[in-house]
Amino acid sequence: MNAVPTSHAALITRLRQICGDAHVLTHDDPAADLSAWEQDWRKRVTGRALAVVRPNNTQEVANVVKACAAANTPIVPQGGNTGLVVGSVPDASGTQVVLSLTRMNAVRAIDKDNLTITVEAGCVLQNLQAAAEGAGLLFPLSLGAEGSCTIGGNLGTNAGGTQVVRYGNTRELCLGLEVVTAQGDVWHGLTGLRKDNTGYDLRNLMIGSEGTLGIITAATMKLYPQPAAQLTAWAAVPSMEAAVQLLGLAHQRLGPGLTGFEVMNQFALGLVDKHFPQLRVPLWQDKPWCVLLENSDSENEAHARRQFESLLETALELGCVTDAVVAESMAQARGLWHIRESITLAQVEEGLNIKHDIGIPVSRIPAFVLETDALLAREVPGVRMVDFGHLGDGNLHYNVQAPEGADGQAFLRDFEDKVNTLVFDQVARFKGSISAEHGVGELKVDKLPLYKDPTALAMMRAVKQALDPQNILNPGRVLG
Ligand code: FAD
Ligand code: MLT
Ligand code: ZN
Repeated sequence: MNAVPTSHAALITRLRQICGDAHVLTHDDPAADLSAWEQDWRKRVTGRALAVVRPNNTQEVANVVKACAAANTPIVPQGGNTGLVVGSVPDASGTQVVLSLTRMNAVRAIDKDNLTITVEAGCVLQNLQAAAEGAGLLFPLSLGAEGSCTIGGNLGTNAGGTQVVRYGNTRELCLGLEVVTAQGDVWHGLTGLRKDNTGYDLRNLMIGSEGTLGIITAATMKLYPQPAAQLTAWAAVPSMEAAVQLLGLAHQRLGPGLTGFEVMNQFALGLVDKHFPQLRVPLWQDKPWCVLLENSDSENEAHARRQFESLLETALELGCVTDAVVAESMAQARGLWHIRESITLAQVEEGLNIKHDIGIPVSRIPAFVLETDALLAREVPGVRMVDFGHLGDGNLHYNVQAPEGADGQAFLRDFEDKVNTLVFDQVARFKGSISAEHGVGELKVDKLPLYKDPTALAMMRAVKQALDPQNILNPGRVLG
């Protein structure tokens, strides 16, 4: 084991004074297992932390940052560590401090009249949803990792999920932030205001900055009324064009009731069927695509059902739907959503893969998929496409699975860069974004300069330099 340099030893002593011995974990203690904080969710990278620090309140976070800044030691903020782009784990140098926010998980306040909730950054998303529900209200952010991701991580990545088509992404759900700056100062920005034009929008700058500009310690988030009824339908569609046609129809007929519109290709559903047969995937075997729709109604269930049935009848007549089922109960609806949310885990079971979370204007997605599928099939013989995601937001998980029986590691080594370049060139041609929701992290850091507007990049670098001149907040992520 390498000896810890004196300055690091002094820093660790200081961190223990701030947070307490039990909340500063290091490799010096042979009994301490830091692996959960050092490896990313997809097991793409395993780093080595100088220490994992778990503060209990905002002042402790500020003191930790001040101590790290004085020792010129980088900090990697971490929430639930469910990020998919390697943004929340330390590098292999053993010189970075992981700052885990998970002990700061309190719900500070709910203001029912203002429709807001104020929570600490380490609050697990599912607990935030439950607190809102307990107050008779809705916090609509929803994603497959909601049982372990935190609101701080959701804000750090500006997470999307399955309700964006109606409620927007995490940025659009946030009204105020409390942030510890790179200098260890606290910005008290926990406003519940829906209108505030007093200068630059620092809140929106922090959101999506992936821990590179500040550490979010608390947030005030928007709440909504609970819908009177919620219905889920599963429809088979003959093509991506048909899925887009169905989306247009659903917007027209359901208006703001349309709260979810997810698309899944046959191969993605086949993987769920193969690895989780107990989930009983409907209507997939001879259908190229299926769509999951959700209708949240402000009147009652009978009204929601009539609306859905009329929508699906029209869609069947037009031929953009070939078969459909509407869930009869909440349990059935949850089952259908569970199938959708299991695609990510089914992909993991199948083996290593190349993930994308691209954004393309909805109208252009059918042409994008047709053209890019053909290009990939030519470049990567036997390639298997796992296409699914948030069609309602123009956000597709256009994932590339290794050919049947291929060695996953060898596939990544030989094809990852080639596939990313091909897909991102196509994204650029279609005026899209190389990341719609997962962020840049470390995985796309070398690609961002190739696809982001150079003036925008220069402004981003200037902001980073101004707010974190020492480059101690999550170095190597987003801007490299
Ligand atoms: P972490 O993984 O711990 O961190 C993510 C990033 O945020 C890192 O850069 C980290 O440094 C930074 N960060 C964390 N906390 C803070 C803080 N307090 N202050 C500043 N920066 C911070 N993402 C989607 O957008 N949509 C989906 O539908 C979706 N589905 C998923 C399904 C599964 C099964 C899994 C495993 C992941 C999914 N994700 C999805 C990705 C992931 O869950 C999100 O990115 C989530 O927002 C990360 O939250 P976290 O608390 O785990 O953050
Ligand atoms: C999803 O929509 O399920 C997620 O973003 C996770 C993934 O891309 O696998
Ligand atoms: Zn997604």
